Amino acid sequence: MAAKSHGNWSRRAFLRSTGAGAAAAAIATSSFDDLIAASAEIQNQAPEQAATNQSYWGQVQNQFDLDRTMINLNTGHHCSHPRMVARAVEEYLRMENLLPVRYASQIGANVETVRRMLAEEFGCESEEVAITRNASESLQILQSGLDLKAGDEVITTEQDYPRMLTTWDQRLRRDKLKITRLQFPVPTTADDLYERFERAITPQTKVLHFCHITNLTGQLFPVQRICRLARSRGIFTIVDGAHAGAHFPYKIRDLECDSYGVSLHKWLLAPFGTGLLFVRKDQIPKVWPLQAAPAVSDANIRKFEETGTQPLAVKAGIADAIAFHRTIGAERKAARLYYLTMRWAEPLRKLPKIQMFSSLKPGETWGMATVGIQGMTAGQITSALFDKNRIVVAGLAQGAMPGQQFPFQGIRVTPNVYTTVEEVDTFARAMADLAK
Ligand SMILES: Cc1ncc(COP(=O)(O)O)c(C=O)c1O
Repeated sequence: MAAKSHGNWSRRAFLRSTGAGAAAAAIATSSFDDLIAASAEIQNQAPEQAATNQSYWGQVQNQFDLDRTMINLNTGHHCSHPRMVARAVEEYLRMENLLPVRYASQIGANVETVRRMLAEEFGCESEEVAITRNASESLQILQSGLDLKAGDEVITTEQDYPRMLTTWDQRLRRDKLKITRLQFPVPTTADDLYERFERAITPQTKVLHFCHITNLTGQLFPVQRICRLARSRGIFTIVDGAHAGAHFPYKIRDLECDSYGVSLHKWLLAPFGTGLLFVRKDQIPKVWPLQAAPAVSDANIRKFEETGTQPLAVKAGIADAIAFHRTIGAERKAARLYYLTMRWAEPLRKLPKIQMFSSLKPGETWGMATVGIQGMTAGQITSALFDKNRIVVAGLAQGAMPGQQFPFQGIRVTPNVYTTVEEVDTFARAMADLAK
């Protein structure tokens, strides 16, 4: 697959020209079967022990076709998916293209398997899972689909995702809702976040909308406690799980939320343009779909998928991403992500000019943490890292995410299962140099 030509462009020719041809050839020999065998070999190791087994993670890294001339520590934007997922999508596309009207229905039937697999993985019922294009679509269905009237209040936070804040702002302009955005320091505690919501609720509050973990610092919210509080007051909950899904283990049913949105092209490593929408079964009739569906579908989760001709190949490819995720194992993956984060954060946090904006406690952080350097702007840090070491990170400063207000500036660092220890160590050294 890696040698496939696209017009005048050949990936292999490009790799030869960059001197990476030999590495690419070696990578191409590693198959998914090899990963299954390697995973079976370490099945008795505790996740924390497996997290440091570099030969196992080498096998995982070899499942990806990546540009290793750069160090990607902004995998949280959207993630590279494994070769097997890319191939599955190519195959489904090729198949559908043979005779679209016949093959689309076959691939469409397979998408029901994906729904079942997602429900198993995320811990809910198949009839509560819609497959969308991304977390934005999932969350906007909820935000725009709830019946709310002038004066009704929505409580969210200043550190929620800008597109979601924009969506509430639009409903404020259209329907005269009251939108309250809570401030909070980072990192903060579960108790602090819970109390901020509890204090803010009024008789007019109809919706609480907040992140499972934020995109800015990975701040973890006490989702179950806040949802229980909301339910006791008859308030609907929308939880933004864009960055939580398949990043660390949990089950949606344990969160006790009314609705939940995930980006599957982030930590699940699914094809680009895939998302999950969960709506509790009894709440489905209360949410209007963004694109109209017949009344007979009012209580059917599939009403949220009535979007015309679909990218079925991309949806079907989610099954391969789930198979890959299960082979690594959710616990093992979470332990590895924490290991990689601590590998750079532990030496850096001791340096005088370094500012950590994320909790580094186990169970509160996995593959995402945000760090700053006193006296340097986020832009200066990102440029210096890229110019000197070809390291890609996300710069976070006021204005970088228009519409979001947050009391810090720094860089967000998101390694992934395909990140090598050498890449993380190079980053830690580069930051230590900058902080001198
Ligand atoms: C917290 C949060 N919510 C929502 C989104 C939107 O996700 P998507 O790009 O999949 O629509 C993102 C994307 O980074 C995010 O970080």
